[in-house]
Amino acid sequence: MISEARIEEAVSRMFSTLTFESEPAGLYDPLRYMIQIGGKRIRPRLCLTAYALFKDSFDESILSPAAALEVFHSFTLIHDDIMDKADIRRGVPTVYRRWNENTAILSGDVMSIDSYKRMAKAPTKVLPQALELFSTTAAQVCEGQQYDMDFESMEQVPMDGYIRMITLKTAVLMACSAKMGALIAGADESICNSLYDFGINLGIAFQIADDWLDTFGDVTVFGKKIGGDILNDKKTWLLTKAMEVADDSLRAALREAMALPAGSDGEKAAKIAAVSDIYRSLGIGALAQEEIVRYHVKALDAITGVGLGGMQVEMLKRYAAGLLGRQY
Ligand code: IPE
Ligand code: IPE
Ligand code: MG
Ligand code: MG
Ligand code: MG
Repeated sequence: MISEARIEEAVSRMFSTLTFESEPAGLYDPLRYMIQIGGKRIRPRLCLTAYALFKDSFDESILSPAAALEVFHSFTLIHDDIMDKADIRRGVPTVYRRWNENTAILSGDVMSIDSYKRMAKAPTKVLPQALELFSTTAAQVCEGQQYDMDFESMEQVPMDGYIRMITLKTAVLMACSAKMGALIAGADESICNSLYDFGINLGIAFQIADDWLDTFGDVTVFGKKIGGDILNDKKTWLLTKAMEVADDSLRAALREAMALPAGSDGEKAAKIAAVSDIYRSLGIGALAQEEIVRYHVKALDAITGVGLGGMQVEMLKRYAAGLLGRQY
């Protein structure tokens, strides 16, 4: 096994040494920008952690695919910020705000292609499976993003529809990251699949936490504007649950609050306050925290009794605790 200290060291070295083409600068500068402004890098860390369970050292055949996962993720954020009209990401202006929409579209495109070039450095023996897993995942993320947008114009979505949407937009990439590490390390198929399930459940918990932070978080640590989901009519876990548990009069009040105009800054603040006050009166924040714990437990169940050793399970448990204990 490889220690967590070595994993951290590999993650930070990976991104301090990551390079992209230089010309034309207008195309590649946003890629450097996205990588340099950081992010939590939870996907490459998960991939390296899964690999570390079975191996004693890292080499390019895992470091490059692990970087591919972060490059791909950062590409999805560039496009997501156009779709969500988000001004701030990782504490700095989003690519389409710092440059413009056309730049964000094209730099995003080339960043996605760059991620494939890095993934293609997976060992020859598992390359077809690695590319199949990565491509299927990438298409699923697009499907999830489409449902996310479709839901904006719906008044209410059922909870299972919400879970399906976030499984696609967020959880499958976490699952892919975990499975990729095990696959490249040469682990058994059944173990690879258990790690996939671990990633799915962690990813669902992580997106519910992200929804919670979008309303109740602190902008200075979250690095994104608070209330963006409310202003965009996003069907978050909070809204979906509130619609489910509210009585008729509160549900009507919530619909009214969601229908408030959000043109000026004053209107935006009033709408965010009106919706989040209803969440508070229903105790939705606490219910979300319980749901995060439930998916955290499901993630740990997925790796229990599947043939992993005690130390391997402990390392995965520490990863999960670190991920879901986040304040940002
Ligand atoms: C943001 O992902 C998008 C979601 C899936 C919630 P992260 O929260 O991992 O963003 P960074 O990479 O740390 O900025
Ligand atoms: C984003 O979900 C998921 C992907 C980028 C695929 P969000 O829209 O909730 O992510 P943030 O909050 O902007 O990071
Ligand atoms: Mg989005
Ligand atoms: Mg977004
Ligand atoms: Mg979000």
